[in-house]
Amino acid sequence: MKLLLFFGFVAVALAEVTRFEGDKVFRLKPTLDAHVTLIKHLAKSIELDFWRPDSDDLVTIDIDVDIHVPARYLDMVYITLEQGGVAYEILIDDFQSAVDGQADSGASPRAHSYTKYNTWSEIEAWTNTITSSNPSLVSKQIIGNTYEGRSMVLLKIGKSSASPKPAIFMDCGFHAREWISPAFCQWFVNEAVTTYGSDSAMTSLLNDMDVYVLPVFNVDGYVYSHTNDRMWRKTRSRNSGSSCVGTDPNRNFNAGWCTIGASSNPCSDTFCGSTPESEIESKNVANFIRNNKSTIKAYLTIHSYSQLLLFPYAYTFSLAADHSELLKVAEGASAALTSLYGTRYTSGPSAATIYPAAGGSDDWAYDLGVKYSYTFELRDTGYYGFLLPESQIKPTCEETMLAVKYIAAHVQKNL
Ligand code: ARG
Ligand code: ZN
Repeated sequence: MKLLLFFGFVAVALAEVTRFEGDKVFRLKPTLDAHVTLIKHLAKSIELDFWRPDSDDLVTIDIDVDIHVPARYLDMVYITLEQGGVAYEILIDDFQSAVDGQADSGASPRAHSYTKYNTWSEIEAWTNTITSSNPSLVSKQIIGNTYEGRSMVLLKIGKSSASPKPAIFMDCGFHAREWISPAFCQWFVNEAVTTYGSDSAMTSLLNDMDVYVLPVFNVDGYVYSHTNDRMWRKTRSRNSGSSCVGTDPNRNFNAGWCTIGASSNPCSDTFCGSTPESEIESKNVANFIRNNKSTIKAYLTIHSYSQLLLFPYAYTFSLAADHSELLKVAEGASAALTSLYGTRYTSGPSAATIYPAAGGSDDWAYDLGVKYSYTFELRDTGYYGFLLPESQIKPTCEETMLAVKYIAAHVQKNL
């Protein structure tokens, strides 16, 4: 037993962090069916990391396809693209430098900061301090544990009231590598507690409503993206009959589950899981929302990247019953966001705006009856992609606050 523990310890201590020396990110521009076929064929024969869309199954004609290519496949990718006549550009020429370059905020790497990418242990400790320093505004609950046994910490922000208040539910960190997302949830909580009482919109929002914030949904994946593989996306659950790990949590909800834009292959980055809510993280969140269905009026889920504000549906091209209102609010929110730094967003229903994909939490929440269901895809449009430098956390969060507050004000007005 002691020996096992010892070897276990050594294994953890020696766990290699993946390095990316010589890797590149390409943007491919398929304009013919033959190009699409070629890209899919390439994806089957070598290990490509799809950045956008999320996997090779989602590649279609006339969309930009951003792929991270490991150094050892570069020659083959160049030759294939040239021979197949696929237009491309290089988005990131030196991948490892981009990874190293993220930490450009000057914040201490050892303490929590709103302008750096905090580790899970920093975020978890922060949930305690932000709660205890703002007892009249913030409360904390654990909605369950992750696959690896970490706590899923949910913060409730709002002026306390005798009767239950209508609420907004917002989560961050579905996909592990989208680090700007948890940074936004932390920023939002801080803004809420520091501007309550001075900012009239925030004050009135938190007087009338509660905002539930889940700073990190996929905690295990987030940890793994810090300790082992910066490009990890999925959960960390084991799959029976496969050595590939993890499920895409945003393909794991019960909304047209695994019918389109999702994979039944456990090795895919868009694996839908063995059943809807097979992931304990999805189940915990779905249970919480189901149990509070009568109070939850809006569901916001924060991803990156692409600068999009999406709403149902993703599992079908049919328009949602509330399409025109959802679109109008999305356009207002995007305009508010753009007003600060000129960052341009596209709004629309997911299927037509990015691609059809079933099993998303946004569609699931909407079909449950949460009308204002939105997915944000934060900065950027692929220059840094998932490797957005820390120096962009502040402007990204500031502009996103305007969009979230715009949606919240609309929800509040329509209670
Ligand atoms: N990039 C996100 C994803 O594919 C977009 C989510 C949009 N909503 C959806 N239900 N697919 O997970
Ligand atoms: Zn995502």
